[in-house]
Amino acid sequence: MKTLVVYDSFFGNTEKIARAIGDALGYPDDVEILRVGDVKPEELMNADLLIVGSPTRAFRPSPATTRLLKSIARRALDGVNIAAFDTRVTEEEIAKGPWILRKMVRIFGYAAKPIADMLVKKGGTLVAAPEGFFVEGNEGH
Ligand SMILES: Cc1cc2nc3c(=O)[nH]c(=O)nc-3n(C[C@H](O)[C@H](O)[C@H](O)COP(=O)(O)O)c2cc1C
Repeated sequence: MKTLVVYDSFFGNTEKIARAIGDALGYPDDVEILRVGDVKPEELMNADLLIVGSPTRAFRPSPATTRLLKSIARRALDGVNIAAFDTRVTEEEIAKGPWILRKMVRIFGYAAKPIADMLVKKGGTLVAAPEGFFVEGNEGH
């Protein structure tokens, strides 16, 4: 089974999670871990399992992640199992923030769900619920 883990990362946290997931799934045998800018949309359809992860930036996936997902052809992920994850600030951090931030988080959420939705829209079969991983501090681990 060929697994592809695709990630974006500004400070290294999402890359760490992507590598941990890849290792757990048996990297390097049959598992490729690629940064979002290093993968072409047509390569995604060759995977049996495709996992995409992004930092949450302004309640959404990173621009490079969104660009890649949008460029996948219609139904290109038919027969591909998919899962999505994000990294995000902690709930404590959000609770400390202004009410408007708490409200926006409630309304707009995080990156993993829109990633999963987009992959399903392109034909992928969701095999695990979208998952978030907490990062303490913008550049911390
Ligand atoms: C410009 C910017 C916007 C961010 N927006 C959000 C957000 O909307 N929700 C959230 O939970 N975290 C947000 N964060 C925190 C990032 O999710 C956190 O920096 C990220 O998980 C780090 O991952 P990376 O090291 O892979 O870049 C933001 C961070 C930055 C710098």
